[in-house]
Amino acid sequence: MQTSEWLAYFEHNAGRASPQTPARLAPLPAKLQEPLVHALQCFQLGEAGEGRIAQQARQSTDPALDDNLKESIAFYVREEGRHATELARLIRAMGEATITKHMSEQLFERSRRLMGLRAKMAVMAVAEVVGAAFYMTLAERVPCPHIADVMRVISADEDRHLEFQRGFFKRVLATTPVLLRPIVALGLWFWFLNVLAAGIAAVAFGHSRLFKALGIGPWRFSWYCARRFYRLAHVPTEVEVSEQVDLPSDLVGGTY
Ligand SMILES: [Fe+2]
Ligand SMILES: [Fe+2]
Repeated sequence: MQTSEWLAYFEHNAGRASPQTPARLAPLPAKLQEPLVHALQCFQLGEAGEGRIAQQARQSTDPALDDNLKESIAFYVREEGRHATELARLIRAMGEATITKHMSEQLFERSRRLMGLRAKMAVMAVAEVVGAAFYMTLAERVPCPHIADVMRVISADEDRHLEFQRGFFKRVLATTPVLLRPIVALGLWFWFLNVLAAGIAAVAFGHSRLFKALGIGPWRFSWYCARRFYRLAHVPTEVEVSEQVDLPSDLVGGTY
């Protein structure tokens, strides 16, 4: 996609409707409710924390960015803020409050402050990989249509963000002098793989009780993330065909 098409996409998507979440949702089975709320609280906090990069992009002289992309990044960050709002609404409907601090988020935030724009974008790209896998897993496996609706719309946005990131890093390579390109590509791969391994481990094992309650283990979730990363690295985005879902027997048929 051309950069002007990205800007047009983000401008258009800024008007997409949020799912209608009732003020109160019936509780899910106990073994799912508590780890799900905890995971949503952590992701809500992560979605709310990307503000500074829009300003950094506007002031950047990075040759990979033109005015359309700078403006697109501002829209992109606002979309993450909308995800935070939608998740907060869901958390309140589940009878809980949002959180303002989490150890992994604080570490993440501190390290992000020290980074340049490209490194920050790479960290966000990894967050897109893990986030898209997380939201799609919940959309397919949580037996509540209202929660699934929110997960589905956020997951669709994250898929486009992943595609946007893919385009940005292609431009980074395209605007790098030819002789330096292999070194920059290698550096990017090294950075991506390290941050990705840390991000997947933090979510897959930090929320393993949730994934077990949803009938998958942390390794399977890690595999979903690896497949999303493959798309970031290789494959033009189309909405991913979801896997066959085998729900645990005690979650099948429930309406919550
Ligand atoms: Fe998001
Ligand atoms: Fe995103």
